[in-house]
Amino acid sequence: MSIEIPAGLEDLLVRFTVEVLRNQPRDPLDFAVQYFQRLNQNQNQNRGGGSSESLPSPTAARPGAVVSFTEPDAERSGEEDEELVAPVAIRFTRRVSVSAETYNPDDEDEELREPRIVHPKTDEQRQRLQEACKHILLFKNLDAEQMSQVLDAMFERRVEVGELIIEQDDDGDNFYVIERGTFSIYMKVDGLERLVGTYNNRGSFGELALMYNTQRAATIITTSAGALWCLDRMTFRRIIVRNNAKKRKLYEAFVESVPLLESLQSVERMKVVDVLGCQTYSDGERIIAQGDSADCFYIVESGQVRIVLNKKGAETEIAVCSRGQYFGELALITNKPRAASAYAVGTVKCLVMDVQAFERLLGPCKDIMKRNIANYEEQLARLFERDVDGHTETAGPRPGTSEVLR
Ligand code: CMP
Repeated sequence: MSIEIPAGLEDLLVRFTVEVLRNQPRDPLDFAVQYFQRLNQNQNQNRGGGSSESLPSPTAARPGAVVSFTEPDAERSGEEDEELVAPVAIRFTRRVSVSAETYNPDDEDEELREPRIVHPKTDEQRQRLQEACKHILLFKNLDAEQMSQVLDAMFERRVEVGELIIEQDDDGDNFYVIERGTFSIYMKVDGLERLVGTYNNRGSFGELALMYNTQRAATIITTSAGALWCLDRMTFRRIIVRNNAKKRKLYEAFVESVPLLESLQSVERMKVVDVLGCQTYSDGERIIAQGDSADCFYIVESGQVRIVLNKKGAETEIAVCSRGQYFGELALITNKPRAASAYAVGTVKCLVMDVQAFERLLGPCKDIMKRNIANYEEQLARLFERDVDGHTETAGPRPGTSEVLR
């Protein structure tokens, strides 16, 4: 005899379980009654085209948490109008593992219409949250309204040393932004857990399972006490994943044209786009500082970037990078502090990738980078020889205009 599991049941129960674990209600039965009643209310309200005003939360056991329906109009723009025809009842979709190749966020618009989550915060909390999110690359392309929704939905989690935050192969519940604390990243290799990286008081993790609807790719464990800001899966998908679809369209042609990324397959290039943040710098602004520890890699989208070496107090321009060229890889590859500084010439736009994504996605490009790094020393030696001889201005083409030198 075969029993058919109703579509959406699994997801419904997973979401409910996640809420129970998050809220730790004293009376789970009472919590369940409230949760499903509210869900039903929301659903009916949406079916009837009711207003999208804030509703009391099904997660009321946690003081102050509020769930409201996202205003359909605020979410809609241009081409999305057709797919977001409101009102539509919440339907739950079975979460499946899909590869990035077949992933299409537009297929999952049910999920995008789910309630808007708001976790009220004190001014002090909001300030700390904003500070922690300032450098999060996945948030860089969000507009002000999207960013505000993300900040509203985030909630704080204090952690102690030795806590398991994410376990490899689990389903993804939250995306995490680090406010403070250190974390180890482990991955199973041939059945053994291996330390593959660390986070040190900044950065974020947990985006992959939510972006690609896959199981967790790594295990994350705290190595000190700290604080995390968590963004639930639903809000992450509604805002970040949807935004990534736009980012792909926006940067597809550009990343195809970046020589460094030529050896990647187009699916891999799209994954690169998914994790990139676009950062704008004004004329003369320092992008990286010599001697700093390194956690990002940069591709110039527009404008120019001067690479400047400070040797015994004297600054020498050693390279200029323009559209399609990259910098910031040397310290990531050698695991050393920044060997030179980088400054914007005019307004500069860079696509920025964090070190974890660099390690994960640019493996196939490393040979090219290493080859270029091997040229750096030779170029530097030539440059300083010329300086010593006083012939800099007559020496051939400036090193680094075709390849980046630091
Ligand atoms: P996710 O798979 O959702 O959960 C585990 C997280 O670990 C993953 O997202 C990334 O954010 C992070 N991570 C850090 N380094 C790696 C890596 N080398 N491979 C995969 N995930 C990594």
